[in-house]
Amino acid sequence: MDKVSIGLLGFGTVGTGVVRLLTKERERLEERTGCAIQLEKVLVRNKNRPRKVLIDSRKLTTDVYEILDNPGIDIVIELIGGVDRAYRYILRALKNKKNVITANKDLMAEYGEELLLEAKKNRCDLYYEASVAGGIPILRALTDSLAADRIQKMIGIVNGTTNYILSKMSHEGLSYEKSLVSAQRLGFAEADPTSDVEGLDAARKMVILSHLAYSIPVKMEDVKIKGITDVTREDIVYAQKLGYTIKLVGIAEVSNGDIDVRVEPTLLPNGHPLASVENENNAIYVYGSLLGETMFYGPGAGEGPTAISVVSDLLSVIRNMALGVTGHHIFMPKKEMHPKKDSLIESQ
Ligand code: HSE
Repeated sequence: MDKVSIGLLGFGTVGTGVVRLLTKERERLEERTGCAIQLEKVLVRNKNRPRKVLIDSRKLTTDVYEILDNPGIDIVIELIGGVDRAYRYILRALKNKKNVITANKDLMAEYGEELLLEAKKNRCDLYYEASVAGGIPILRALTDSLAADRIQKMIGIVNGTTNYILSKMSHEGLSYEKSLVSAQRLGFAEADPTSDVEGLDAARKMVILSHLAYSIPVKMEDVKIKGITDVTREDIVYAQKLGYTIKLVGIAEVSNGDIDVRVEPTLLPNGHPLASVENENNAIYVYGSLLGETMFYGPGAGEGPTAISVVSDLLSVIRNMALGVTGHHIFMPKKEMHPKKDSLIESQ
């Protein structure tokens, strides 16, 4: 395999990061994979908009089918966000036997199972490391490195916006409103920050993590969700006096023979490693039966960290193509393989 051709859907913050990385690091990435990595087309809304990174304007298109139906394109990277359009585009790309990489947590939380089955049916890859916790390689860890262990519990700070808001309220005495505006300016809040502050974004990420850790399809409606809109500066100060830090965490655990998933503002003792995760950083604390405790920490959003996850997925896909295999279907168990309640009780 001498060359792979890529179609990129979306040229926003992460799309810009991906183009920047593919351009700047081209030689190193090509040496690593042993083949030429050609960015063929980029789907944009407006071809004439100024860009933050240099790109040959002939690569820009407003017609998604120039990518999805283009027999010359091997890999589609979906970075447009949202659910409906992204779902249709990814489905079409997979049916057209293209490998897909996405950073779309909303989509994967809702349609992950179906899309992964479609990928499997078409013998294609569907990788989505960037959908949870930006640059932290937590999906790979759960899928590969920790696959042999029984995960008892995961506690995640998986939303950078709310962690940033709570950090600012806590350490700088800023109001909730001012902290939110600041998070929006810095670019990690969602277009509609309701999904951040109401806990939906964190819940979607916990759905994806739970699916991987427990090999059962968890749905959004299974998750109990409470955001941070009721947390006041007084609550934070009072908690501090008692030696606690308030964090919005997602918790997934084996409980009474079932999997319990919830997102809620939680009092963490100041000595807990998650209590010192500040600003927009993310962290996932994992308790494995044999491993014990481990924590994955790092930047959960932003151009560079998210682009690293996307392009690393790209390298995995290229490796798979060269080997003639596909990966990342392993967390799609057959229904009869779902853990029985008994085995969950036993494992506690
Ligand atoms: N709005 C998200 C966050 C972006 O604040 O974590 C990254 O998924």
